[in-house]
Amino acid sequence: MKKLFITALLGAAVMAGSVRVNAADTEKKPKVFPADFGPSTIDVSGFPKDLQPAYPLFQNKCAQCHTLSRPVNSAYAGDDWRLYVNQMRHKPGSGINKRNADKIIAFLQYWSANRVALGWKAPVVSKTLLAAAEAAGSATAVSESAGKGEAGASATPHADSAVSATPSTGSGKTDGGKK
Ligand code: HEC
Repeated sequence: MKKLFITALLGAAVMAGSVRVNAADTEKKPKVFPADFGPSTIDVSGFPKDLQPAYPLFQNKCAQCHTLSRPVNSAYAGDDWRLYVNQMRHKPGSGINKRNADKIIAFLQYWSANRVALGWKAPVVSKTLLAAAEAAGSATAVSESAGKGEAGASATPHADSAVSATPSTGSGKTDGGKK
């Protein structure tokens, strides 16, 4: 009996340990995506009239947990958007209903099919820059130095650039903004 008790105790201790490890895992800094370094706005003046009203909707719904840069500059197209928008919709607290998701999907499908023609350029992101952003917890924290058109070349952020970089205009809420 005593042996059993000790075994149970040991088991509990191991479990407590693993719980702690898991908690530490979830406390990790949020993931940073290369797309986060690109522009966070879209000029919709060249969009079909019926898609333009989806832009403010997209801005409201899709910048709650990360900046709009992530969807604006992602390499997804066509049906990918159905997959990812629905994935986002099902995240706790997204506040995105099916009807709005469908509007955003159509909007992003048009954008990804036409954005190069509309003047969009893919952000150039080096591994060093990405690593610095992941250490800092967001792309905005280091994107000031990257935003000068030298992102790829001079991807050695100075120690102080991550500190002094103020988030660029209107990039929306930061990662804490989720309701
Ligand atoms: C409730 C929080 C939340 C909302 C709202 C949200 N996202 Fe996300 N998004 C995340 C998180 C967290 C990730 C990181 C990857 C993951 O956990 O799926 C992410 C990742 C992404 C990615 C990258 C996915 C990949 O794996 O490459 C895209 C693209 C994206 N979001 C687009 C959107 C769009 C479009 C909307 C609006 C329809 C949206 N997000 C709304 C939380 C959110």
